[in-house]
Amino acid sequence: MQRTRADRTAAWASLRAHYDASGKDFDLRRAFAEDPKRFGALCQSAPHVFADLSKNLIDARTEALLVALARETGLEAHRDAMFAGEHINATENRAVLHTLLRTPAGAAVDASLASAFNDVQATLAAMLAFAEEVRADHTITDVVNIGIGGSDLGPQMAVLALEADVARGKRFHFVSNVDGHELDGVLRGLAPEHTLFLIASKTFTTAETMANARSAKRWFEQSGSVDIARHFAALTTNVEAAREFGIETTFGFWDWVGGRYSLWSSIGLPIALAIGAEGFRRLLAGARVMDEHFLTAPLEQNLPVRLGLLDVWYRDFHRFTSRCIAPYHSSLRRLPAYLQQLEMESNGKQVDMDGKPLPFGTSPVLWGEPGTNGQHAYFQMLHQGTDVIPLEFIAVRDAAHDLEGHHPKLLANALAQAQALMVGQADAGGHRNFPGNRPSSFFVFEKLTPESLGAFVALYEHRVFTSGSVWGINSFDQWGVELGKVLARDIEPRLASGNAEGLDASTAGLLQRLRPRG
Ligand code: F6P
Repeated sequence: MQRTRADRTAAWASLRAHYDASGKDFDLRRAFAEDPKRFGALCQSAPHVFADLSKNLIDARTEALLVALARETGLEAHRDAMFAGEHINATENRAVLHTLLRTPAGAAVDASLASAFNDVQATLAAMLAFAEEVRADHTITDVVNIGIGGSDLGPQMAVLALEADVARGKRFHFVSNVDGHELDGVLRGLAPEHTLFLIASKTFTTAETMANARSAKRWFEQSGSVDIARHFAALTTNVEAAREFGIETTFGFWDWVGGRYSLWSSIGLPIALAIGAEGFRRLLAGARVMDEHFLTAPLEQNLPVRLGLLDVWYRDFHRFTSRCIAPYHSSLRRLPAYLQQLEMESNGKQVDMDGKPLPFGTSPVLWGEPGTNGQHAYFQMLHQGTDVIPLEFIAVRDAAHDLEGHHPKLLANALAQAQALMVGQADAGGHRNFPGNRPSSFFVFEKLTPESLGAFVALYEHRVFTSGSVWGINSFDQWGVELGKVLARDIEPRLASGNAEGLDASTAGLLQRLRPRG
């Protein structure tokens, strides 16, 4: 696929000129005053999600030029290649087909994908049947997912997000860190005969997960329990390694599912255990309608495309380096961490598809906490600090509780923060001045359901695809995590031996400090 690098397109040059002429001094207050239709023009209903983009530093011309940029860089062909199963993850020579995981049984798929699609359906059916079995088994009260990165964050985020729907009588624990304090803390509250361990690892080689899995197995065996088959299951593409480890119950997936895109695969088993087979299918269905939107809506009215292009505009023209995620829903408390991996591991790259250095910025830093908590911590800086940081508000219209008065207060705060960031306060003087004109996007769900969560996550996946595609990077590899892994393997025995040979002076000095005493 021949693609033009973003900064070599005509649209990029026009965007640069547009930014210099008016973009850099864009004022939201003026834009709303001059255009009474601005809200309507810049908000959009997509499946299960309503998005207000009107408080962003864009106008119709910015969006038109960004869409031209997407066309010139070949976004549509690249998107279609992904859905068709072409090996767009070129550095690993793999297809990128997480969208196949949410394609419903009976849907027409290309002949080249038929065999993979059959495997997907068979595995899904087996995994959901297992989930229902365990849900009906009241002797299992605790489910412990052992996995890290994509094998932890997605299921953890989703189980928390859907906590209102989670089956009573089962507790869910997520152990990811190699720090033994985490596993130890969880094991202390467990009885082996009531616990199901899920060992979640695409590769079944990740050091942290293997260390935790070994310790969990040892703990289980030391208690005198022997029925590993009933109390351990593995979610992995490396079924053989799981069997060697001693786990018989395995649910597979495939190398064309990236770790951070894997919650739709057997990695999603904790979600299915929590909300049931039907709930899991609803999650998939929500993602699927967003896939269809991404595939078929014209770019101008394509929400993931508009968001991905906005990200390019902010990063490369305004040069904003971070974005704050503010979910106004405490059940979405792990969403920022989940989105961090999704976006930063996908688009935190400095070279193009051919490994050549890129002359522009790529992934911003993503961070955040649920509102209103963030308001009493770092929002000060967002309102009056020297950097402009675009925010993303996520609000849910209907609460899943009936505690009087709380939900209106929560929603009022979300609205007020977005308003304050934009309008500011100019006449109060000195320390009380708010510059305003600080951009934000505002997402609304009617309810937090499996469908709306599925749609929102798919929206983000495609948004990340869009910006990554325009930047011309491979959003589906993660070589940047490898060096640290190699060095940790070298350092670990040195902690015992004290051998600092060949280390830089700082690492050597710290090694001595951290060596066990006595
Ligand atoms: O180290 C990063 C990473 O490779 C992530 O991309 C991945 O989600 C995580 O590790 C876990 O990998 P695995 O599922 O193979 O254990």
